[in-house]
Amino acid sequence: MARDWADSGLDLHLVVDRTRKVASLEDGLRDAIASGRLAPGTRLPPSRTLAVDLGIARNSVAEVYGRLVAEGRLEARVGAGTWVADRPMPRTVTIAPVHRSTRFDLDLRGGLPDGSAFPRTAWAAATHRALSAASTAALGYAPTEGVEPLRAALAEYLARTRGVHAAPDAVVVTHGFGELIGLVARAVARRGGTRIAVEGYGHASHRDVLVAAGLELVPVPVDDDGLMTDGLDAASVDAVLLTPAHQFPTGVPLSASRRADLVHWAQRGGGLVIEDDYDGEYRFDRRAIGALQALAPEHVVYGGTASKSLSPALGIGWGIIPPTWLDDVLGERRRSGTATDAITQLTLAAFLEAGDYDRTVRTLRQSYRARRERFEEVMAAGAPDASVRGLAAGLHCLLELPAGVAEADVSAAAAARGLRIDGLAAYAADPALAGDRPPSMVVGFGAPPAHRFEEALAEVVRAIEVARVG
Ligand SMILES: Cc1ncc(COP(=O)(O)O)c(C=O)c1O
Repeated sequence: MARDWADSGLDLHLVVDRTRKVASLEDGLRDAIASGRLAPGTRLPPSRTLAVDLGIARNSVAEVYGRLVAEGRLEARVGAGTWVADRPMPRTVTIAPVHRSTRFDLDLRGGLPDGSAFPRTAWAAATHRALSAASTAALGYAPTEGVEPLRAALAEYLARTRGVHAAPDAVVVTHGFGELIGLVARAVARRGGTRIAVEGYGHASHRDVLVAAGLELVPVPVDDDGLMTDGLDAASVDAVLLTPAHQFPTGVPLSASRRADLVHWAQRGGGLVIEDDYDGEYRFDRRAIGALQALAPEHVVYGGTASKSLSPALGIGWGIIPPTWLDDVLGERRRSGTATDAITQLTLAAFLEAGDYDRTVRTLRQSYRARRERFEEVMAAGAPDASVRGLAAGLHCLLELPAGVAEADVSAAAAARGLRIDGLAAYAADPALAGDRPPSMVVGFGAPPAHRFEEALAEVVRAIEVARVG
C-alpha cells in the first residue's frame, strides 16, 4: 500500500547542509531511496511543504524531484503528487535475467503447511480477546517456561488429543520445535552426554541444532517399521531424537514392538528420548497412534509445534519435559536469553480455549486428506509405475520412482520449471546411508495454495516424464 508522507505525518530524517541545501537534499533523497529508508510507494511531501520545512525555494525542490524522476527513482503524476518508484533504480542499469529455475514459485518440500489456510479472522479475534483480558502485569516479560494460561491449555489439549501425560507445570513454551531440541541437547551435554541417535532420514536443520549444542550425531537406519531400535545399544548414545507417529520424511509409524524396545532402552540405561510429534494430529484413517511419551513420561521429552497447524510465522512450539529434566531445560532457556512473546502465547491460549485450534485442525485434516487422495489419483493416471508410500497422514508422503528414474533428475526437471521438490537422499543424515531405500521423492502436498495444487501435481508428472526420457 502506498504510504503518504504528507497525510500520515511520516517523518524522514534528511541531513541538509546549510551551505549547500539543494545539493544535500538531492543526495539525501537519493541515499534514502537506495537504502530503502524511503520504501517504494512512499508519497513525498508536496514541493511547497518541503521547501518551507527546509527554507529553500520551491522551484529548487521541484527541480530536485524532477531530476530524481528522470533517473527513475521517483514517479510523478500531474496534479496527484510524487512517489518513490516501485523499483527505484537508475534507468541506465540493465537488469540481469532471473533464472526461473532458482525462483521456485511452487514448493513441494516436505512438511510445509498451506499458508493460505491460516485462520486469520479467528486468530485476530483471539488476539483481541487475549489483549482485552490481559492484566498490565501480563504484558511484561514472559516467564521463562511460558505463560500460565497457555501451559494449562496445552496440557489439556495434548492429554485429550494425543494421550500425553502432562501437568501444566511440565509444559515449556518455546520458539518452535527447533528451539526445544536445542535446549534439551544442551541440557544433555551439560550433564556430560556426548552422543545422540537420529533417524537415518530427517530434518537437516534439526541435526545442525544438535551438533551446535555439542552432541555427536549417530545416524540409525529407518525401515518400514521406523527407527531400527536394535542398533541403539551398540550405538552407545545418551539420547535419541525421532518422529514416532509419522517418520519424517519416509512417512511410516514406529511399530508397536519398536516403541516397546525404545522405552526399554530408556528405562534400562537412563537414556533420554525426544519425541518429535510435529504432525501427530493429522492422521486421516482414524487410527491415530497416541504419543510415545504416554508410555514413559519419565524418559520422554514430548515436542510439538504450531508450525503445521497454524503457521511457522508464529514461531511457537512446546515441550512436555520429564520432571528430572525440567530444571535443566529451564536453566538452558534462561541462559539463552530467549523468551516467547507473551502476546502470541496469550492469543494461542485464547484460541485453544475457544475450541478454534480443534476446529482449525479438523478443517486442515479434511483438506490435507483430500490433497493426499488427489495426489494418489493424479499419480495413478499420470505415472502409474510410481508408488505413493507412507501413512495416510500429515502433510507429506513419499513417491517411489519408477525403475531407472533418478531422484536428482526429477528434482532438476522440476526446478527448470520453477517447482521445488527434493529426493529422499536430500534428507539423509549420513551420505553412506543415502540409497538404502528405493529412490523416492518427498512430496509435501500441503504447501501449494489451493488454486495452484493441480498445477503442482501436473508438474510432478511432467518432471518424472522428463527424467524418464532424459
Ligand atoms: C520433522 C519436523 N519436526 C518439527 C518441525 C517443526 O519445527 P518448528 O516448530 O521449529 O517449525 C518440522 C517443520 O518443518 C518438521 O518438519
